[in-house]
Amino acid sequence: MNEGRDIGLVDEGAGAYETELLPAFFPEDDSIRQAAALIRAGELVAFPTETVYGLGANGYDPKAVEKIFMAKGRPQDNPLILHIDSEEMLREVIYDIDEKTLKSVRRLWPGPITMIFEKSPRVPDIVTAGLSTVAVRLPMYRVAQSFISKAGVPIAAPSANRSGRPSPTTAKDVLEDMDGRIPLILDAGPSSIGLESTVVDLTSYPPTILRPGFYPHSLLQRFFPDLRGGEDQIMDGETQEKPVLSIPDSMTPKAPGLKYRHYAPNAHVTVYVGEVFQITERMKEAAATNAGFLVFSEQEEAIRDAFPEAPIRVLGSYQHLDVIGQRLFRLLREIDRLGVQEIYVAGVPEAAYGVAIMNRLSKAAGGNVIHV
Ligand code: TXA
Ligand code: MG
Repeated sequence: MNEGRDIGLVDEGAGAYETELLPAFFPEDDSIRQAAALIRAGELVAFPTETVYGLGANGYDPKAVEKIFMAKGRPQDNPLILHIDSEEMLREVIYDIDEKTLKSVRRLWPGPITMIFEKSPRVPDIVTAGLSTVAVRLPMYRVAQSFISKAGVPIAAPSANRSGRPSPTTAKDVLEDMDGRIPLILDAGPSSIGLESTVVDLTSYPPTILRPGFYPHSLLQRFFPDLRGGEDQIMDGETQEKPVLSIPDSMTPKAPGLKYRHYAPNAHVTVYVGEVFQITERMKEAAATNAGFLVFSEQEEAIRDAFPEAPIRVLGSYQHLDVIGQRLFRLLREIDRLGVQEIYVAGVPEAAYGVAIMNRLSKAAGGNVIHV
């Protein structure tokens, strides 16, 4: 085993393990017992949640958590989420919670949402990157809950991709990034949501969405009336002009993960947003040779007619954002694997769940989003 100097700079750690992939569809599967035993022994396990697959370690064991940063090639100033199985475990990892917040938490968990609290002294600094706050999530998948319960400790876990790559939504996608770096991947099939959790900071006033997700601003506002961040960008059917998100490296942003390039395939990505017909026309004009397409089902025929040789993947109907979100990362990886130079992607309106989808797409495209 290597000692993890130069984290994020040197691609070390591959080949240290024979990575095993085991099915885990039921909470009492033996694979989950094996996974929990590995966690207690200080090892890493990739596990399924309804959002994306996580790369887990014992959240109380700094040496185990350090292995996460090594396996991912993740900068150590980017804090991790602690995954818990109960209110009891929540109280262990946070400093305090008032009755009103507890009521909201009880209704939002288990689910695809991460909330940030003041941390308890029990949480090691490496988990929170030295911050006084800690991100916590109780996932919906019973397999994930069972894994945490059997481990008996909070599981520190980022998404199980190599740093900067799209998050994995299948065990195969985890294997692509983590083969040889970890001993075990639990396989429960494709994640049902497919985008990472909504991250809400409850330590600031007003409470703030730091990363949009499946639970949109409008839903969370019912729990946190003054909530800020992740709002719809569409008014009267028109997209609002807004600056592309960019944070200088020298600044410490509120969500440290925001400053890194993310969700990015190897290919150059262009996203088109607008009427379906117009997106199709713009894709036809723009397309270079050696390009791939991620399109709505409504566009499929026209794009296939125009580019019979090109790889085309279908995100789903433009009317079904949940299906688009569920397939997005998997299809980005799939089309990228073919070695195309350009990927043209159909974008969605930035309202409701579309805010989260466009947040990921815009990062995958390095801000290269064209309104047609
Ligand atoms: O759906 C998900 O959230 C998945 C599954 C595995 O739970 N996890 C995930 O983790 O996406 P990760 O590490 O890829 O993203 C966590 C985000 C990062 O942007 C990180 O900077 C932010 O949450 N974060 C974690 N702790 C924080 C804290 N104390 N304050 C502010 N941001 C925090
Ligand atoms: Mg991630």
